Amino acid sequence: MARDILIMNNLDGGYEVFIGGKRRVFVHAVDNVSLTLRDSEVLGIAGESGCGKSTLAKMIYGAIVPPLLVRSGSIFLYTRDGNVVELNRLSIEEVRKKIWWLEMSYIPQNSMNVLNPLKRIKDQFINVFKYHNMEMDKNEVMRHLKDILSSLSLPPEVINAYPHQLSGGMRQRVVIALSLLFNPRIVIADEPTTAVDVVTQRIILSLIREWRENSKSSLMLISHDMSVHAYMDDRVAVMYAGNIVEVGNVFDVFKEPLHPYTRALIESLIRKGDKTIRKGLAGQPPDLVNPPPGCRFHPRCPFAMDICRREEPPAVSLGKDRYVKCWLYASKR
Ligand SMILES: Nc1ncnc2c1ncn2[C@@H]1O[C@H](COP(=O)(O)OP(=O)(O)OP(=O)(O)O)[C@@H](O)[C@H]1O
Ligand SMILES: [Mg+2]
Repeated sequence: MARDILIMNNLDGGYEVFIGGKRRVFVHAVDNVSLTLRDSEVLGIAGESGCGKSTLAKMIYGAIVPPLLVRSGSIFLYTRDGNVVELNRLSIEEVRKKIWWLEMSYIPQNSMNVLNPLKRIKDQFINVFKYHNMEMDKNEVMRHLKDILSSLSLPPEVINAYPHQLSGGMRQRVVIALSLLFNPRIVIADEPTTAVDVVTQRIILSLIREWRENSKSSLMLISHDMSVHAYMDDRVAVMYAGNIVEVGNVFDVFKEPLHPYTRALIESLIRKGDKTIRKGLAGQPPDLVNPPPGCRFHPRCPFAMDICRREEPPAVSLGKDRYVKCWLYASKR
C-alpha cells in the first residue's frame, strides 16, 4: 500500500466574524478533521456547498488570511528529500520558499480569474521562476513552459497571449499549468472544473488524470460533484458541516455508501436511462455558528436515534481503508 505523505491530525478552524461590527461569532467550518493523503493517489473531498471543503484546503496549504483562524491541529508533510516537516510550525516565509509550488501546489476555487489581466501568460510564469530564484536560462524556461502547456493541450502561442484573449477553459488550464510548473508532489485542486461547461470539464479532468498518471504525484481533488469523484478518485472523503463523515475506496463508497449523508449524495446522481425523479435531501445544512448538538447531520437524517441528538458519533473503522462517523455503526467497532 502506498505510504502517507501528508498527515492531517485534528484540524479545527473557521472564521471569526463580527455581526453588526460588535458581536463576535465563530463559523466553525472545519471541525476536528483527521485525514491522510497517500503517495501517488487521488483523494477526493466531496460534500455540498458550504460544508467547509475550501476552508480545509486553505488550512492544509497554509493560506491563512483573516478572518480564517486555525484553532488547533497539526499537518505533517514527507518532503521529496525524505524529511518530515510539521507545516504549521514553519514560518510563512519558510512555507513560501520551501513548500509552495515546489512540494505542494494549490489551485484555488474560481482561480481562472486570478491571472493578472495586464500581463502576458509567459510573464506570469516567469514571475514564479523569479520568486523561487530558479536558475534556468531563458530558452530553457521557454521550452519548459511550452512542454507544460502542451501537456494540457494548450498551443505554444498561448504564452504570448493576455488572459482576456483566452477562453475560460484555456485560462483554467493555464492556471493548472502554473500549479504544475515545478512538478510538485502534491496538488490541491479546489473545484478545478466547476466554472467551465461539461464538455470542457471532461477534457480538463482527463488531462489532469493523464498528468497525474505520468507524474505519480498526489492530488487532493475538491468537488461538490459526485460524478467528478466517480471519474477521478482513488479514495473519497465525504464532508458534512465541517466533519469528515465517511472515507473509503471510491468503488466501495459508490457501491455501498454507509453514512446516510453519503447515501443521499449518491442517490441524487442522475443515472443513464433512469427516468425516475431523483430524491433530493430534505432540509438545509446547519448553521455553522450554532451547529446542532450530537451528530451534525441528525436533523436531516432519516435514521436519527436519540443518541444522535445528544452525542457526537465516533469514527468507526470498518475494514480496510473505510471509516464512517455514524452511530448506526458504533456497535460494529
Ligand atoms: N471569509 C469568510 N467569512 C465568514 N464565513 C466564511 C468565509 N468564507 C467561508 N465562510 C463560511 O464557512 C463555511 C464553509 O465555507 P467553504 O467555502 O469552506 O465551503 P465549501 O464547502 O468550499 O463550499 P462551496 O462548495 O460552495 O465552495 C460556510 O458556512 C461559509 O459561509
Ligand atoms: Mg469551496
